[in-house]
Amino acid sequence: MNENKRYLLTSALPYANGPIHLGHLAGAYLPGDIFARYCRLKKRDVVYICGSDEHGVPIMLRARDEGKNPQEVVDHFHAGIEASFRKVGMSFDYYGRTSSPVHYETSQEFFQNLADKEAFVLKTNEQLYDPEANMFLADRFIRGTCPNCGYEDAYGDQCENCGTSLSPAELKNPRSAVTNAKPIKKETTHWYLPLGDIQPDLEEWIATHPEWRNHVLGQIKSWFKTGLTDRAMTRDMDWGVPVPEAAAEAVKVDANGKVLYVWFDAPIGYISATKEWAAKQGQPDLWRKYWQDQDTNLVHFIGKDNIVFHCLIFPALLKIHGDYVLPMNVPANEFLNLEGNKFSTSRNYAVWLEDYLEKFEADSLRYTLAVSMPETKDSDFSWRDFQARHNNELADILGNFVNRTFTFISKYYDGKLPEKGALDELDQELLDTIVHLRKKVGQAIDDFQFKLATKRFMELARFANKYFNDKEPWKTRKSDPESCATALHLCAQTAYALAVLSNPFIPFASARMFRILNLDAKPEEAAWDEVGEVFLPDGHQFGEPEILFRKIEDEVIEREVAILETIQREAEKAVDEPEESLLDIEDFRQVDLRTAKILSAEAIPKARKLFKLQVEVGDEKRQVVAGLAEHYTPEELAGKTVVLVANLKPATIRGVESQGMLLAVDDGKKLTLVSPEGEVVSGKPVS
Ligand code: MF3
Ligand code: ZN
Repeated sequence: MNENKRYLLTSALPYANGPIHLGHLAGAYLPGDIFARYCRLKKRDVVYICGSDEHGVPIMLRARDEGKNPQEVVDHFHAGIEASFRKVGMSFDYYGRTSSPVHYETSQEFFQNLADKEAFVLKTNEQLYDPEANMFLADRFIRGTCPNCGYEDAYGDQCENCGTSLSPAELKNPRSAVTNAKPIKKETTHWYLPLGDIQPDLEEWIATHPEWRNHVLGQIKSWFKTGLTDRAMTRDMDWGVPVPEAAAEAVKVDANGKVLYVWFDAPIGYISATKEWAAKQGQPDLWRKYWQDQDTNLVHFIGKDNIVFHCLIFPALLKIHGDYVLPMNVPANEFLNLEGNKFSTSRNYAVWLEDYLEKFEADSLRYTLAVSMPETKDSDFSWRDFQARHNNELADILGNFVNRTFTFISKYYDGKLPEKGALDELDQELLDTIVHLRKKVGQAIDDFQFKLATKRFMELARFANKYFNDKEPWKTRKSDPESCATALHLCAQTAYALAVLSNPFIPFASARMFRILNLDAKPEEAAWDEVGEVFLPDGHQFGEPEILFRKIEDEVIEREVAILETIQREAEKAVDEPEESLLDIEDFRQVDLRTAKILSAEAIPKARKLFKLQVEVGDEKRQVVAGLAEHYTPEELAGKTVVLVANLKPATIRGVESQGMLLAVDDGKKLTLVSPEGEVVSGKPVS
């Protein structure tokens, strides 16, 4: 790796449809932030980019569920996520969002550029369509019964109950998640990226990166082995970046209601955010240096579920475009588990970052996650491990060393740095260790080995703490004042080294150490490579000693453990004994079922499935709207005696008032009205 190159770092843009949990933080954000902070201390030219991913089906679904428009949903979560990121010390140079005008322009330009190069192929095929909502249904919008386990609420692409991955065609009784209507097939045209054509180029490029993480290369190679296929880069939706008019006109496709696929536009969000950053610097063209000059090291920090997009699809787009650099590395992390179980957003089995930050310090979490980061295999976050890391390492080693050093100096040297005398072997070893471990920590970060880096950093604190013990300044203060002064001098210099080297991992403690050291500069302004040279001048006046980390009590931790155990127990119970919702007879009696005679049926304009029926209920007449048009003709219905739910609140369906509901059997294909056997008068109770 060339030291002089500039760095462009990105962390996966989180979907703005929910808050961030610890799994996300460990996967894509903490490693990026450690790397970015390290680069700044190394005085490298670095820009670190992130932002909100604000398109895609889940966001649209959430908006629908909550009766909001998608922009309101993303505005809410964008602000919340950005605030949590700031509180946990993420040091993005820019946090953008994909609903910004610059992003619309940038992603449309990019798409147009590829379209002009004829990089896409157009394909027309049948896709599922909701005739009531008048929209095409992405896989996630289709619900139905899982062919594997019988779960009735499986998605078109996956059953959440048994985990099987599905295609919408496999679902039994498919229905639209939007309206519950039965989907129909309808033709639509989309722009596809023929990834198969570019596979040889991608293979050649990936072959130049044998240094990438094994599990990342493993996934890529298995994609290659299966063979890359055409992927649609557009969707039928009204939330997203519209397909550029010019691209559509050129191939005579109606662009109306078509948007760019979210995985097309989102990674381009990295580019748009860099543009916005550059504009904010007053140098609108500066983004080009980072994206378009071959001397850039582009690194994407992501979780393993994003590998195919960052290692194959986005690079393919960049390659075809031609003006851009390709990633130098994509150090994807594996998954973090929670107390031995998978995080589950839907079950709320998670520790949400904003909740965590209301109770505990950012640094304790950063340290715990960094030291057991899921780099090469899944790892686990447990509250007891968290407590142990905080108490036994941050508080008892690092915090204790810093505290005893400055309390001693404050007490016996007036808070001023004592002069050092002749160095003995151990003194020299301490100085050597600082430099040695500084290099080791740096090397590990450069190799994307964050766990190792964090451990090496703590090794320095441990060595320093032991040095203080071995030197016994509380004894030598009287017996050998020169040795005592030297020891405290070196301890203070070591505290400075720790203050700088800790910055990538625990930036808030790093800032507190700078305060104790009474330095005007901020830790971010320090130079990594100068750590180990004697830095503080003799007689330097320190600030007030303060305790860096206070111990976390058992009760506090047990409370957190209990919360998760409860959620987990409920989930296991739900699997064991599915709760049946049985109805009380009293509840059933509240439904007023009556015989009714259909007098007439007529079609409702623009509602293909519905009939407007006039029915007789005793001496009363009622109008009922019913979805019978695909199952009966008006002639078949007239004169029939059926069963009516007579005490339903009236509803307006397609502008027509409906005063009741008819009972019918639905076998998934056909509706058959429930009719009493033989001649029965209307208006009689059914029970
Ligand atoms: N929003 C995606 C996720 O959370 C990540 C998008 S990364 C980007 O999985 F590159 F597309 F921006
Ligand atoms: Zn299933």
